[in-house]
Amino acid sequence: MKIAIIGTGYVGLPTGIGLAELGNEVVCVDKIEEKINALNSGKATIYEDGMEELFQKHLAKKSLRFTLDMKNAVSGADVVMLAVGTPPHPVTKEADLRYIYAAAEELAPYLDGYTVVATKSTVPVGTGDEVEAIIRKVNPAADYDVVSLPEFLREGFAIHDFFHPDRIVIGANVKKARDVLLKLYEPFQGKTEFLLVNRKSSETIKYASNAFLAMKIHYINEMADFCEKAGADIREVARGMGLDSRIGGKFLNPGPGYGGSCFPKDTNAMAQMGRKYGAELNLIETTIAKNDERKARMGQRVLDMLRDHPDGRIAVLGLAFKGGTDDCRDSPAMEILNEILKTSRNVCVYDPKAADNARKMLGSRVSYAETAYAAAEGAEVVVILTEWEEFRHLDLDRLKSAMSRAAIVDLRNMLDAEEVRSRGFEYSCIGMR
Ligand code: UGA
Repeated sequence: MKIAIIGTGYVGLPTGIGLAELGNEVVCVDKIEEKINALNSGKATIYEDGMEELFQKHLAKKSLRFTLDMKNAVSGADVVMLAVGTPPHPVTKEADLRYIYAAAEELAPYLDGYTVVATKSTVPVGTGDEVEAIIRKVNPAADYDVVSLPEFLREGFAIHDFFHPDRIVIGANVKKARDVLLKLYEPFQGKTEFLLVNRKSSETIKYASNAFLAMKIHYINEMADFCEKAGADIREVARGMGLDSRIGGKFLNPGPGYGGSCFPKDTNAMAQMGRKYGAELNLIETTIAKNDERKARMGQRVLDMLRDHPDGRIAVLGLAFKGGTDDCRDSPAMEILNEILKTSRNVCVYDPKAADNARKMLGSRVSYAETAYAAAEGAEVVVILTEWEEFRHLDLDRLKSAMSRAAIVDLRNMLDAEEVRSRGFEYSCIGMR
């Protein structure tokens, strides 16, 4: 099939590459010339584990193309996927749909033959109706259906998740459109669950899932706070809970609070929708408020570790919102760092992949190091903010000899508490005394 994907971000690009690998002809369109030039010249614009090889392969085979030209992408496409951003409105926190609506308007004139317009971006319930109406207005003769096709890829694991989905949700009100997408995703038949639902249910599934996962993280973070006070160990508690198959062991890792470009945005948008429809979503409202509060509290925990040396150097390890990605948008690490920077000016940071993105946000307010050990040089405290695998294997003796005082605040519970303390470090982590 010929697939057009509008938007080449963390959803559009991995989806395009995945669909090319399934044997389709994929054309990705974006408005940013720099991005399209980079992609056409073989430079991936985001980091995703396992993406590079497939990207190069399909670029060389021309089964994956990039263009600025909407007509070129959309003409003759069987499926057009909308994968543009839906950032939160700065004031209302509602999902800002201007990019979706603009894309619908721009693609409409070029639809030819029957086309499925599938929304991959996370959009509020009812957006499909709007998109349908916009296209109809611009091109009354177009033969098309609008479908909700929510994306459940995790950043950093997007390629893996594309090929191993837990489910494929197709929110189509029309059988013809559903059949086109069933054909597109045929290679997954027998390997995963297909959920054929109406468009509004599909739009809701996406928000309800992200909000639930955010709540699960908030819950384990609250339990971690409880464990610290009560003398229990959150690792043991989480394992004990997770072995109950009704609860499940995933997303029970306590930390500095959830972040990223999805959970904060989508919980806020869901809460806003609840208010709009007059449906109480108290659990989600509380999760949002407490998660924000937590990040400020974690910043204070780091500053407390400096005690009588408020000018002491702080080494921050990890800036991305989670391990495996270079994305710093709404990263808890960045928010905690901003909290630290209110008091301290002596901060050196290190991240294996996200330094370039972080630099755009932090500028010269911090210094940058090329390794964890270089960041720790002369530091009073090392703080772990992102769960990069390499931090689990830090050479503790080397770290200690670089530092001026041996103290670690591990907000991702990456290290073995007994081991760290036995090497002479003061150690603070989450959910254990
Ligand atoms: C999330 C969902 O997991 C995806 O299914 C969804 O497709 C995506 O949003 C989206 O809507 O596009 P993502 O934002 O990539 O994916 O990141 P997650 O792996 O879910 O992590 C989100 C945040 O929660 C991170 O800050 C992470 O560190 C934190 N987290 C996650 C925890 O603190 N503890 C956990 O146990 C798990």
